[in-house]
Amino acid sequence: MSLPEVSLPEESALPYYEQVSPGTGDVAPRSWYAASDAASLSLDGPWRFRLSATADGHDESFARPGHDASAWTELTVPGHWVLQGDGAHGSPAYTNTVYPFPVDPPRVPTENPTGDHLRVFGLPDDWPASGATVLRFEGVESCARVWLNGEELGEFKGSRLPHEFAVEGLLRAEGNVLAVRVHQWSSGSYLEDQDQWWLPGIFREVTLLHRPDGADADFFVHTAYDHRTGEGTLRVEASAGGRVTVPELGVDVGAGEPVTLPVEPWTAETPRLYAGELTTPGGEIIPFRAGFRTVAVEDGVLKVNGKRILFRGVNRHEFHPERGRAVDEETMRHDVLLMKRHNINAVRTSHYPPHPAFLDLCDEFGLWVIDECDLETHGFTHERWQRNPVDDERWTPALLDRAARMVERDKNHASVIIWSLGNECGTGAGLSAMADWIRDRDPSRPLHYEGDPSCADTDVYSRMYADHAEVERIGRYEDEGPEARRELPFILCEYAHAMGNGPGGLSEYQRLFETYDRLQGGFVWEWIDHGLADGRYGYAYGGDFGEELHDGNFVCDGLLFPDRTPSPGLVEYKKVIEPVLVEGDGTAGTVRVTNRHDFADLAALAFTWSYEVDGAPVESGPLAVPVLAPGESADVKLPAPPDAARGAETQWTVRAALADDTAWADRGHVVAWGQLPVSGRKSVVPASGLSPVGDAEVVTLGPAVFDARTGELRSVGQVPVTGVRLDVWRAPTDNDNGADWQADRRFGHLWRTAGLHRMRHRLDHVILESGALTVRTRVAPAAEQFALGTEYRWTADETGRLTLTVSVTPEGDWTVPLPRLGVRLGLPPSATHARWFGGGPGEAYPDTRAASRLGRWEASVDELQTPYVRPQENGARADVRRMEIGGLRIDGEPEFWFTARRWTSEHLDAAGHRTDLVAGDTVWVNLDHAQHGIGSQSCGPGPLPWYVHEVAPATFAFTFSAAG
Ligand code: GAL
Repeated sequence: MSLPEVSLPEESALPYYEQVSPGTGDVAPRSWYAASDAASLSLDGPWRFRLSATADGHDESFARPGHDASAWTELTVPGHWVLQGDGAHGSPAYTNTVYPFPVDPPRVPTENPTGDHLRVFGLPDDWPASGATVLRFEGVESCARVWLNGEELGEFKGSRLPHEFAVEGLLRAEGNVLAVRVHQWSSGSYLEDQDQWWLPGIFREVTLLHRPDGADADFFVHTAYDHRTGEGTLRVEASAGGRVTVPELGVDVGAGEPVTLPVEPWTAETPRLYAGELTTPGGEIIPFRAGFRTVAVEDGVLKVNGKRILFRGVNRHEFHPERGRAVDEETMRHDVLLMKRHNINAVRTSHYPPHPAFLDLCDEFGLWVIDECDLETHGFTHERWQRNPVDDERWTPALLDRAARMVERDKNHASVIIWSLGNECGTGAGLSAMADWIRDRDPSRPLHYEGDPSCADTDVYSRMYADHAEVERIGRYEDEGPEARRELPFILCEYAHAMGNGPGGLSEYQRLFETYDRLQGGFVWEWIDHGLADGRYGYAYGGDFGEELHDGNFVCDGLLFPDRTPSPGLVEYKKVIEPVLVEGDGTAGTVRVTNRHDFADLAALAFTWSYEVDGAPVESGPLAVPVLAPGESADVKLPAPPDAARGAETQWTVRAALADDTAWADRGHVVAWGQLPVSGRKSVVPASGLSPVGDAEVVTLGPAVFDARTGELRSVGQVPVTGVRLDVWRAPTDNDNGADWQADRRFGHLWRTAGLHRMRHRLDHVILESGALTVRTRVAPAAEQFALGTEYRWTADETGRLTLTVSVTPEGDWTVPLPRLGVRLGLPPSATHARWFGGGPGEAYPDTRAASRLGRWEASVDELQTPYVRPQENGARADVRRMEIGGLRIDGEPEFWFTARRWTSEHLDAAGHRTDLVAGDTVWVNLDHAQHGIGSQSCGPGPLPWYVHEVAPATFAFTFSAAG
């Protein structure tokens, strides 16, 4: 059904901020560089600031020199006004895909928070008298109008893109008045519907840059690398000409002249840069760094320097919990270092070009970058909507302006190997126009865009959140779809939604990427939780500022917590993508080491072995591993195993660590590891031999005392114990709950509907017999016929050991899996510390356990908690053989999972923020026979079928004794 044409108002009849035009008055975009030797003046710091509720709340007289702004407040630039002034300047607002205003492009609401910014400045004494000067804005959200000394310079949109104005002739030595009016909403907002906080303001630097006479308007460093000859080609195109020198290579040529010579290539693993200078005819010296590499899609594979590469990537939004998108260089560096230290080799700059200094860091430290344009019209992809700007030619100039500003700014970065047109815009001729423009301007880089299934404008087939089975079909070229698409390499530009606990299933994706050449890896969604530091909640998310529409904690879906502490998801990802594989059978006397780098050999790594007996290292030493080339494997001999007591569990742990300090981590930093079991664990013999002795009040069995009527355990030795019973509930994770639009089973909801959070325990029998105390119960929720027949069988021996054997027999028609299956018990608050022999040191669940290393660990109960921004099930430790807590030792048969917390799962479930979790006077310990998988259903697929914990008969045992 076609809808009636909507007639748009005449562009000229609209105020500038509603016109689709990208702006007026600014100069052509050009390449960014850190600094030339020309003079520059930072205009960052305190500005005077005034907020209006509407775009025209005040007239423009403030821009005239002499305006009295003494009553205005002060604001720090770069910054967002909503994050400064303790709420006096409005609030942040979060929506994922919906526009937070009525959708009537290009019109915006009358309520349009508008910030007037004023800065008075003088020029430094040595500011050159001749030459030109530009005023540069690195980023302003969403539309700015600019005056200098009362003269209007122009206005612009394109929030995360630079804009420059020529200002010569307007400057004075003293008392220059720079006035900037910033509107939160503009036509540009329709192009910036990214899933993040709406944060208006001048959030990147403002600088005055002198442009000496004869300065180049722009320059383009073209490099290539021929892997067959080992030669690189350099050609620096400069609009006004000039000389190009690269001393290390002996290069001294005119701008525009190509040179070809032997070089070391640039890759993300070997980020070799050559420092050069462009000296303009006017004498300005502009430093640049050349990285020689050639990117190509050949034979359906994306290659750099002739080799297939594999992305081990993340999507990075710019975010700081106090400063929003005003991210300083130290934070950017921190991000890059954290990525390198976690084996990440690629970044998609979702969904806009990042601060340009970030790309310099990527060049320097080595990260492949997909640089994405500041463009998303997600709201328009809802079916019922019309007038998507990417499919309306009136907007094409604005789209082309964005494409040009990205490409021109970032074209000289070796790390940028792919341009992305934007994110989630649907399809339209405007996108094709952008693609054509980019291909023409820079044919050296492939194009990416995920939102067009035809892949008409792209060189890679890209998807988000495809499940494992589909990815495998694509890997085998068994996918349906247009023929042209079937010839393209495949990437997951987003996968593994890292919201809350998770993501699960990373290992299985990685296995696919490593199996099929067509699958060239992916980018986990996303790098960091966007929780805003907030005294009320710890970290705030959508809705915490009273937003009319919001998407809750969907904004907290990163591998880092807002304060940049790695979450277990990042630790897991590091392990799953490690570039060296260590594997083997520990009894064979060798370990197989495989170099999974694409370019680097293993010269930078030093290997060590350690031999562990019951989790404790008894001997260790260096391991001589040959310097394997990428892709090579070797079986390396291990030393003769040290002696161990009979019956002990033994294993090798082999680690690959940095042999020397690097730019991104110190010597000794572990890059990869593997464990090779030698002799397995002996099963735990249940305690037996004693019989229960009872009176009307209590029953005693070995070290344990029970309530005679209910059969409930009261104490083991000196340790009071409460509430021992079967537990199947966990506070649903974001991935358990799934996203509203998910058609598949969403377990969190199924569990709650089934009533698994309100199970009732009916006591059927307490049986005292020779050798055991048996308690039979039936565990079931109200209103249902299904149940878990549950028997607790207690036995004890002379040595003070007490065994609980739990047998679970499902009854009735179970249609839902179980969140967990185990027992929980309450200990006194003095149980503040846990030690265990099992998986650690961190959290693990069935499909997030790759990083869980078998060993001996300890942690306080507080440290056992993973502080997800929205509280949810967390902190389980896997494969636990035994643990000690609160004076008790617990041995499991078979191995078990445990969690321990100072609140119940019910409290955890009810909490909305970290601050809702208040310690009670009981430490609740869950000893789990099974946990349900985690998956990624908060935006992707749920747990793989074999991680779904279906209801089935089960028997498991725990033996308690006094801790040593
Ligand atoms: C994608 C989108 C991202 C983010 C993610 C879910 O659809 O591209 O911006 O919204 O889903 O967190």
